[in-house]
Amino acid sequence: MTAPVTKNDRITVYIEDLTHDGAGVAKVDGFPLFIQGGLPEEKAQVHVLKTLKNYGFAKIIEIIEPSPYRVEAPCPIFNQCGGCQLQHMSYEGQMTWKQNMVANVMKRIGKIDVPVHPVKGMTEPWHYRNKAQIPFGLNGEVPVAGFYKTKSHAIVDTDRCLIQSGEADAILAGLKPRLWALGLTPYNEQTKTGSLRHVVVRTAKTTNQVMVVLVTKGRKLKKKEEIIDVIRELVPNVTSIMQNINGQDTNVIFGNDTNLLWGEEVIEDHIGDVRFEISARSFYQVNPIQTKVLYDQALEYAALTGEETVIDAYCGIGTISLFLAKNAKSVMGVEIVPQAIEDAKRNAKLNGFTNTFFEAGPAEEVIPRWYKEGKTADVLMVDPPRKGCDEALLNTILEQKPKKVVYVSCNPATLARDLRILEDGGYKTQEVQPVDMFPHTAHCEAVAWLELV
Ligand SMILES: C[S@@+](CC[C@H](N)C(=O)[O-])C[C@H]1O[C@@H](n2cnc3c(N)ncnc32)[C@H](O)[C@@H]1O
Repeated sequence: MTAPVTKNDRITVYIEDLTHDGAGVAKVDGFPLFIQGGLPEEKAQVHVLKTLKNYGFAKIIEIIEPSPYRVEAPCPIFNQCGGCQLQHMSYEGQMTWKQNMVANVMKRIGKIDVPVHPVKGMTEPWHYRNKAQIPFGLNGEVPVAGFYKTKSHAIVDTDRCLIQSGEADAILAGLKPRLWALGLTPYNEQTKTGSLRHVVVRTAKTTNQVMVVLVTKGRKLKKKEEIIDVIRELVPNVTSIMQNINGQDTNVIFGNDTNLLWGEEVIEDHIGDVRFEISARSFYQVNPIQTKVLYDQALEYAALTGEETVIDAYCGIGTISLFLAKNAKSVMGVEIVPQAIEDAKRNAKLNGFTNTFFEAGPAEEVIPRWYKEGKTADVLMVDPPRKGCDEALLNTILEQKPKKVVYVSCNPATLARDLRILEDGGYKTQEVQPVDMFPHTAHCEAVAWLELV
């Protein structure tokens, strides 16, 4: 395809859609131009920045006719921070776009004609996250803390975040000016000097317990007692203060060594009436209100009577498994991270479940073996990472043919791809229900219900 536009052209375009990461898409004679900050149903004058073989990039010079969904982004650092992509779109507009996006992907990639319901969104779509990972750094001599710029490691300094908790804001605003007095030098990624790399704040919304984790380069904290006092003053409901040591030259936040500075080693949160103990490094869904909505939907599609055996593939710390356990005869969960399986077993015990079984390993290897051993399932639940289900697991499903498959997905494109494979093998997708786990971002979670026909 020859690009109908070249770098530095100024043209007027009509923006039709958004990309999966929230940029506007306009077509010039069928040639897609990606426009940061553009919204669907918007007419704008743009400056072409770059063209490649099959697509190009442009930036907005002037919006001629704004999208009916356009709003003033409430966050002052929205244009710099990489956290949210859609704050300039009304929440109603986000819901409409996410539903259409999932429906289009089902048709285009999955070639599936299936009802895609309106997105289940939040009534209060702000301050929903229960985990903030705050990088600390230096601007000259001045400590900065906030969030990373899009596709960069430059810190956008801020004192508050509209999707994080009040406790995370208290740390953001309150710790920075006191770092020097506490003997905490922010870490410099270039020179590899300094000590404080990140502060992670985890809140358990149902119990109001809070964990603050200081991620430092070395173990030594010169003023440990003062640091604890300041954190307790900034976050009066803190119940756990931990230190994690990460001496590696890496982008990964946590190192392997975590120790207790004050309080408890874990915080407790509830999803419905299931209790979970969460440690500094446990994986746990970040939007607790919508997690309940998501799991309720999965439970409704599973339609358990108490007689079924369930396999929960990609089970993490067993959150879905334990949520389903009281309605099932038994639940078997498999997950590749051994630590997560330890958490799942501990949480099963904490809740007194005796009908759950967890094993660490790749789902695509463990589940075929379970079937060979006669451990079969009436309902198969899958909740894979963004890349979707492993082909070997899909083949096992098609060989073993559980009556019902419930597929929880954080990536509509791989969901549609996998549903096509399952439909070709004898399943029929009954419904797809998108759930907004991440308001103001371009991500969309969805649950699909399949029956063997
Ligand atoms: C989207 S998370 C779902 C976690 C859990 N169901 C929940 O709701 O919290 C996907 C999980 O799959 C795990 N995983 C990735 N590849 C895997 C594999 N091949 N076999 C089993 N688990 C895997 C990841 O470690 C992660 O915990």
